[in-house]
Amino acid sequence: MERIIDGEKLNVPEHIAVIMDGNGRWAKKRFMPRNFGHKAGADALEQACEDADHLGIKYLTVYAFSTENWKRSVEEVTGIMNLFRRYLENSISKSNKNNMRVRIIGEKSLLAPDIINAIDNLEEATKNNTGLQFTVAINYGGRDEIRRAMIKIADEVKAGSLKPEEITEELISKHLDTWELPDPDLLIRTSGEERISNFLPWQLAYSEFFFTDTLWPDFNRATFIDAIRHYTKRDRRFGGVK
Ligand code: FPP
Repeated sequence: MERIIDGEKLNVPEHIAVIMDGNGRWAKKRFMPRNFGHKAGADALEQACEDADHLGIKYLTVYAFSTENWKRSVEEVTGIMNLFRRYLENSISKSNKNNMRVRIIGEKSLLAPDIINAIDNLEEATKNNTGLQFTVAINYGGRDEIRRAMIKIADEVKAGSLKPEEITEELISKHLDTWELPDPDLLIRTSGEERISNFLPWQLAYSEFFFTDTLWPDFNRATFIDAIRHYTKRDRRFGGVK
């Protein structure tokens, strides 16, 4: 959608996905423990939701915890899980005030029962909100998501409600955790790494990528605008010719 932002004509993507990387390095630069960086990352994320909404972005999807992140120290994993607890519990009233709908994607069944319960409450409490559609990936892995979708599809074939030749790309998309979301137009990854690390591999097939050296806790409205400016310059052809 074309919008004038700070006097500049920009093409604002409908859906932005973000790999929030660099919390650990941000903390290290300050001689602080890694969890200090995650706390700052959670604050940056709250601000990013507000900025996304004001900039006219409709969908924001972020990678908060991957299926591989369990390999980190118990202390770090506990710290991140406690941030989720705090976020999930505190954000119902704030989300409703901002008309923001929150969804969690990933393999939820492996999370602590109180976290699963808090996720259900937050999703339910915000389900009628029509503003920013905010999605957080927790215990998410793209290949795992595709594996889980394949099990659902195989079950339908086995039950006789679906024929193998009816398995289209659309049908696969509708069996993914992101079934209610359009594919991201733009992926942002912070902290200078340039890979997708198992985040939305199916959904990012045609997305534009923007990589920035900014560490996630330093991410702000100006970084968002940089990313949107980069996106505005791109010419998306989806394999065709314009
Ligand atoms: C990547 O930085 C960040 C994570 C694995 C955790 C992301 C979590 C948050 C932003 C905060 C919590 C989120 C919510 C929804 C409240 P890294 O630790 O890999 O950084 P490094 O590469 O510098 O070590």
